[in-house]
Amino acid sequence: MEINIFDIRDLPFYDGDVEAQGDPAPVVGLKSAMREADAVLFATPEYNWGTSGVLKNAIDWASRDREEGSLMGKPATVIGAGGRAGTARAQMQLLETLGETGSVVMVKPGVHIQAFAPGTFDSEGNLIDEATKEALRGHLDEFKKWGARLLWPRHFTGFACEMDIALAHA
Ligand SMILES: Cc1cc2nc3c(=O)[nH]c(=O)nc-3n(C[C@H](O)[C@H](O)[C@H](O)COP(=O)(O)O)c2cc1C
Repeated sequence: MEINIFDIRDLPFYDGDVEAQGDPAPVVGLKSAMREADAVLFATPEYNWGTSGVLKNAIDWASRDREEGSLMGKPATVIGAGGRAGTARAQMQLLETLGETGSVVMVKPGVHIQAFAPGTFDSEGNLIDEATKEALRGHLDEFKKWGARLLWPRHFTGFACEMDIALAHA
C-alpha cells in the first residue's frame, strides 16, 4: 500500500463566492489527489471534542466535487492521536460528516492513540510504542483488504464462495 500525504495547510477557508470564481489551486490539488486515490485515510487530532476546523474545511471543499466523485462512494477510514480519549469524539464527528459526503467508511478495527501517554511518541513525533504500531498496522491491513474488496469485487470470487459455503452449512 502506498500512502501519499496531502498537506491541507494551504487551503483557503471554504467560501462559495470564491468557489464561484473557480477553485483556487490548492483546492484543485486536493480534489485531484482525492480523485486519483483508491481510498482516503483521514488522520485527526481532537480539538475541544471535535475534529480540527482545518480538516473539516478540507472535507467541505472536497465534498463539492460530487459530479467528478472525489469523495462520493470513495472508500475511507479515520484514525487519530489526541488526549485520553484518543480522538474518539473527533472521530465520531468525522463519521457524521463523511456520511453526508457519500464516502464509504470502514470503522473497525479503529485506531485511537493516546498521544501524551509516556513512551507512545518520541521527542520528534515518531510513533515508538510497539502495541500502538501493531494496532495501526492491523487497521491499515484491514483497510487495504476491505478497500480492495469494495473496489475490485470480481477479484474476490473466492471470498464470496467461502461465504456461500459457510452459509450453506449454517
Ligand atoms: C485547541 C486544542 C484543543 C484540544 N482539545 C482536545 C480535546 O478536546 N480532547 C483531546 O483528547 N485532546 C485535545 N487537544 C490535544 C490534541 O488532540 C493534541 O494536541 C493532538 O494530539 C496533537 O495534534 P496536533 O499536533 O495536530 O495539534 C487539544 C489541543 C488543542 C490545540
